[in-house]
Amino acid sequence: MAAQDVAATGSGMTRHVLMCEPAHYNIAYEINPWMHRANAVNGPLALEQWRALHTLLAQLGVRVELVQQGDALPDMTFTANAGVVLGRRFVPANFRFPERQPEAALFTRWFDEAGYQTVPIHMPHYWEGEGDVLDTGDTVLAGYRFRTEFRALDHLDEIFGRPTVRLELADPRFYHLDTCLCPLGGGRALYYPAAFGDEAQDALKAVFEDLIAVPEEEALRFACNAVVAGEDTVVLNTGCPETERQILRLGLTCVATPTDEFIKAGGSVKCLVLTLDSFARH
Ligand code: ARG
Repeated sequence: MAAQDVAATGSGMTRHVLMCEPAHYNIAYEINPWMHRANAVNGPLALEQWRALHTLLAQLGVRVELVQQGDALPDMTFTANAGVVLGRRFVPANFRFPERQPEAALFTRWFDEAGYQTVPIHMPHYWEGEGDVLDTGDTVLAGYRFRTEFRALDHLDEIFGRPTVRLELADPRFYHLDTCLCPLGGGRALYYPAAFGDEAQDALKAVFEDLIAVPEEEALRFACNAVVAGEDTVVLNTGCPETERQILRLGLTCVATPTDEFIKAGGSVKCLVLTLDSFARH
């Protein structure tokens, strides 16, 4: 497929997102292998990195909405976990850990006030929003095991009106789907193969024509936790040169921005962004 066709038919593209300025971000608890209370966040630097990402996305033509962070909710800056948005419907997350559960009310209030209809997933199943659910444009992919429960996806399938492709995650360091997979549009995706079970790897091969494996050291720099902004610009963390080379080889543009302060909590670019314009076609 020629680069211009890819741009025209691509589907990983984001033009409208929700972000949350990290006014109260820190490592107050440990709910994934990345988080260590002793590894304190540099607050001003985190703010600077977040603002640089915000500015970059805006420059790329992305409309950014903002929700205010709850003062006792340090991880709320990772808006990808708020839920998923289908047109004007908001499906809020059922957070697995009690530390994050109070975020749900604040996100839901924001969507209420913005005029969205809230459609909750049946309790008691846990699921963590776009952190575990990604759209290729044709297919919805859902990761499960460490955060999202397999059974939660039964109800999500009902809401989508079609089955999601379920992918079992295999490595606790890649506990959300968006830490190890990034659809790029046009049948292409970045992924870290070892983060998936065997069946999930086969399922991914059936969905994508061009699966680009990122090296382990770059997967650990959150190379897959990227956002395709505007037409064709992949925004990702710094320190992923091989992934950048692969992205450029595809004819896409690539911009690296530092998110090291957020990696301390187990998140990077994609985790800091909830897309408001995915899933609308489903
Ligand atoms: N500390 C957060 C947690 O463990 C990080 C969330 C990262 N978000 C994501 N979409 N992968 O829940």
